[in-house]
Amino acid sequence: MIFDVLTLFPGILTSPLQESILGKAIAAKALAVRTHNIRDWAEGKHLTADDTPYGGGDGMVMKPEPIAGAVRAAKEKNPKARVVMLTPQGKVFRQADAVRLSREPGLILLCGRYEGFDERVRTTLVDEEISIGDYVLTGGELGALILIDAIARHIPGVLGSQGSAETDSFSDGLLEYPQYTRPFEWEGQKVPEVLLSGNHAAIEKWRRQQQLIRTRQRRPDLLDQVELSEDDQKFLHQLERNDERPPQG
Ligand SMILES: C[S@@+](CC[C@H](N)C(=O)[O-])C[C@H]1O[C@@H](n2cnc3c(N)ncnc32)[C@H](O)[C@@H]1O
Repeated sequence: MIFDVLTLFPGILTSPLQESILGKAIAAKALAVRTHNIRDWAEGKHLTADDTPYGGGDGMVMKPEPIAGAVRAAKEKNPKARVVMLTPQGKVFRQADAVRLSREPGLILLCGRYEGFDERVRTTLVDEEISIGDYVLTGGELGALILIDAIARHIPGVLGSQGSAETDSFSDGLLEYPQYTRPFEWEGQKVPEVLLSGNHAAIEKWRRQQQLIRTRQRRPDLLDQVELSEDDQKFLHQLERNDERPPQG
């Protein structure tokens, strides 16, 4: 998978792409990230990539021609790449999108700055608009890094053990169960005994039930969208009945 990131500030991406899992995956060629400065396609003495908005108002708007030049150059190298615009007005990015996009042959990520892009960039060059959440950043670069990081975890060879992506929160529609490591007792809190039992079936059952408890407490909206087994449903009904039971004593 090749990511082409189009930005006015390529330096923002340097360090995060060199460190830890992403850095190793890039060194191992499990994925590649190329950054391109949109200004390289700007024209005129000052290489202007932005201009004042028609109709007046604060801020600057990113001009369409340099972006078109940058997108078309990236497409020449990777014709099947999908063009994704980072924008707070896009569809909010979710785990299912990370999995879906990890199967693309390439992604061209368009990072905006200032007041964003001339509208004709969106209508002419873009396959998909993605927001990383309902808040506004100063630019799309951090959003692009979030996309790369979340998508890369689903590219074979990127994570040491593929298993960890499969059990993470959201992979099966639920939040993950609580995790523990040594020491067994810390600040008066012990690790649940079942995790030391060596009984794999009992551990699996405990973990699944913990996923259901956590998701019900923190993200009940997720339970409406997930396929639950008969055992899951029985356990959730039991939790509901416990809630309804009057307090003892
Ligand atoms: C200050 S924002 C522009 C916001 C734009 N004027 C609006 O109100 O929709 C500048 C750039 O940051 C990026 N950006 C900001 N917030 C984002 C978000 N939540 N998700 C994805 N990209 C975002 C986009 O690339 C955007 O073009």
